[in-house]
Amino acid sequence: MSVIGIDLGTTLSCVAVLKNERIEIVPNNEGDRLTPSYVSFSGDEVLTGKAAKYDMDFNHRNIIYQIKRLIGKKYNDPILQGDLKLWGFEVINKNNCPIIQVDCNHDLKLFHPEQISSTILLELKHDAETYMGSTITDAVITVPAYFNSAQRKSTKEAGKIAGLNVLQILNEPTAAAIAYKLHHTHKHKACNVLIFDLGGGTFDVSVITIRGEVFDIKATGGDAHLGGEDFDNRMVQYCIQEFYRQTEVDLSKNKRALSRLKMKCEDAKKKLSVSVIAKINVDSIHSGIDFKATISRAKFEDINNDYFAKTLHGVQNTLNQAKMTKDKIDEIVLIGGSTRIPKIQEMLKRFFNGKQLNNSINPDEAVAYGAAVYATDLIKQKFSERKHLMESKIFDERLEQQREARQTFEYYISDIKQYFTCVGTHKLSSYETQLIFGRCDNESNWIEEHKMSNIGELEKRQLHLEEFVRHVIYIIRKKDKTLSTRWFN
Ligand SMILES: Nc1ncnc2c1ncn2[C@@H]1O[C@H](COP(=O)(O)OP(=O)(O)OP(=O)(O)O)[C@@H](O)[C@H]1O
Ligand SMILES: [Mg+2]
Repeated sequence: MSVIGIDLGTTLSCVAVLKNERIEIVPNNEGDRLTPSYVSFSGDEVLTGKAAKYDMDFNHRNIIYQIKRLIGKKYNDPILQGDLKLWGFEVINKNNCPIIQVDCNHDLKLFHPEQISSTILLELKHDAETYMGSTITDAVITVPAYFNSAQRKSTKEAGKIAGLNVLQILNEPTAAAIAYKLHHTHKHKACNVLIFDLGGGTFDVSVITIRGEVFDIKATGGDAHLGGEDFDNRMVQYCIQEFYRQTEVDLSKNKRALSRLKMKCEDAKKKLSVSVIAKINVDSIHSGIDFKATISRAKFEDINNDYFAKTLHGVQNTLNQAKMTKDKIDEIVLIGGSTRIPKIQEMLKRFFNGKQLNNSINPDEAVAYGAAVYATDLIKQKFSERKHLMESKIFDERLEQQREARQTFEYYISDIKQYFTCVGTHKLSSYETQLIFGRCDNESNWIEEHKMSNIGELEKRQLHLEEFVRHVIYIIRKKDKTLSTRWFN
């Protein structure tokens, strides 16, 4: 029975399967090994992948992309609100859930993000079935290490809608580490590997120690909203300014123009990875006027300079959490399409004092490859033969528990803030308000700065905060007996 590993990417997805005792990347119906994570609705037809992406010129309102940036999010999420302004499709608010609205033959249809993701997953499942000549139901799907439980749950739900039995949601860097490990034998010598994964929508860094058959994830970090899509958006902004300079026409509200520009900017960005200059031409972008511009690699680097610098901060923070100095890293493994950007490689190499970066595994396919290895292992239940995978599962579970403890603490803080916001200023003096909200903000900052803090530390801090809150409530209750609260007892 076949089982698949799926890398459900922000921009590109990839599926791998065990065939003839080897893990293979499944080609899609166009023969490509990567499928754009795009879904388009055209009349009664639903298209996925490349066919959907290249529908952009004519059908920009009904082409859905970057769904990974929507999944498991609340509508009022400030980051999501920023994204909405850039997307060509419509997202509406239903009980604070973002719902995608498309026009199918003048009939407005609504879709949950999970349904759109499931369309991509279904396509990948079909491709794998065609490749294997049999039905496939079991899968492992990867997500960024930073995904919270709502995002993981929604991804799993998307798999379910696609008719998949999701054996596990696996962290992308773990999958990449599995792929890396299978291509390298370190025997008994411990090896510290830093996985640097800069994709289309997310940036993941992991520090992993591989010793023989065991690999221990020391720390994970990065940015859940940083990747090639952001670099493209900066280029789009640059083009808007250029067009305004040329014609005094503002394109920023013209969604069709924005969608078309974005495609051209992505092409130009890729060109700039091999050449120092690229052209961006869009015919009849506005009222019959063409847009023509050239952009240099230096300009591209300049407009994205802060984003690029953020990746190095992510590396430094992750090293700090792992309690490791950079000279202790033996291998820097590059994953994700955006690691092809020369400036990123140059900055990273400089950061590691000229150390050679490891390009030995395919940056686009490693995650799906590792996920398929993992999935195969799970299904075969051969844990004793592949002990290292079992170990990774254990460490993944530990990370999962840490994440849960962190979230419980975060929920508690937001609960308190919400409660005291409802209690309102009529019951609290400005000093008391400041005291409670200040303390909550302090704790939130601490959580943000100590992403890898252990469960014990998190629980201890939560207990202290609970004690503090009880004390504050006790004092307020002395003045106002009507204040009732579930935290007071
Ligand atoms: N040669 C290149 N130069 C610059 N960027 C590139 C190049 N090739 C691909 N990219 C960019 O890499 C990104 C896609 O990478 P990848 O497939 O790793 O991301 P993803 O898996 O879809 O996203 P994520 O992992 O963030 O969810 C896109 O933004 C794409 O434009
Ligand atoms: Mg990826």
